[in-house]
Order: sequence, then structure tokens, then C-alpha cells
Amino acid sequence: MSAQTIAIASDHAGFDLKELLKNELQGAGHTIVDLGTASTTSVDYPDFGKALARAIRDGQAERGVLVCGTGIGIAMAANREPAVRAAVVHDATSARLARQHNDANVMALGARLVGPEVARDCLRVFLETPFEGGRHAPRVAKLSAC
Ligand code: RB5
Repeated sequence: MSAQTIAIASDHAGFDLKELLKNELQGAGHTIVDLGTASTTSVDYPDFGKALARAIRDGQAERGVLVCGTGIGIAMAANREPAVRAAVVHDATSARLARQHNDANVMALGARLVGPEVARDCLRVFLETPFEGGRHAPRVAKLSAC
């Protein structure tokens, strides 16, 4: 896997898992844009989903990783930005299909739902799996027109 610039963000519920994944990414040689949060003090997940979405939109990072309690709220926030295709993933299979079929550029995880080993698997698969293109390409293009 070639080194990429990856933005990462979480709310308080996702902070510990964000830090774990950040260390994993740095260890693999990626450049990290950490958009917070910086502690387990309670914050609002839309602020962090939006910050990451802007980083993707503005080309500051090629991919994004989001973490909140479920992955759902923070993905909803990020997906309001048209440049973002954020997928909530729960396991290696959902991470793989989010890349192969949906060309997801952001992965969202629920820290209250998946453990660190599953999260590491999701991250590795999300970064290593290419988009299949083909019949999926016009469907993904339609997302930008929604
Ligand atoms: C925070 O308690 C929790 O609601 C948030 O992390 C997330 O799960 C929302 O979707």
C-alpha cells in the first residue's frame, strides 16, 4: 500500500479508537491530518464530521477516517458534503464492498460497536482495496448529482 495523506476525526466517544488508528496509520508511513477531537470531553459529532468533509473537499487529504459512538452520526455529517462518500463499516467485508462498489473515500466506525482488532482490519481493507469501476462507475457518478 503506498503512503497516503489521511484525515482522521472523532467525537469524544470515538477519541480512544481514533488515537489507536492514528498510531496504526503513522506506523504504516501515512501522513495524518488530525482534525480532533483531542480528548474524551463531550463534543458534538457534526462539527468533526464537517471538518473532515471540508479537508476531503479541499484536497488536504485523499481519504478520511471518522469515529463516533456508532459511526452513524459523524458519517451523516460528512456526507452532506458532495465530495464525500462516507460509509459506516462494521467489518472487513463492509469495508471491502464500500471500496469496490461505492468508491468510499471516507470510512466511519462505531467505537461502541467494534473492537480494536476489527477496526484495524477495516482500516487495512479500506486503504488497500481498489474501486472496481465498471457497472459501479455510473452509479457512483450519480451520487455526485444527488
Ligand atoms: C455520543 O454519545 C454519540 O451519540 C455519538 O458518538 C454517535 O454515536 C452519534 O451518532
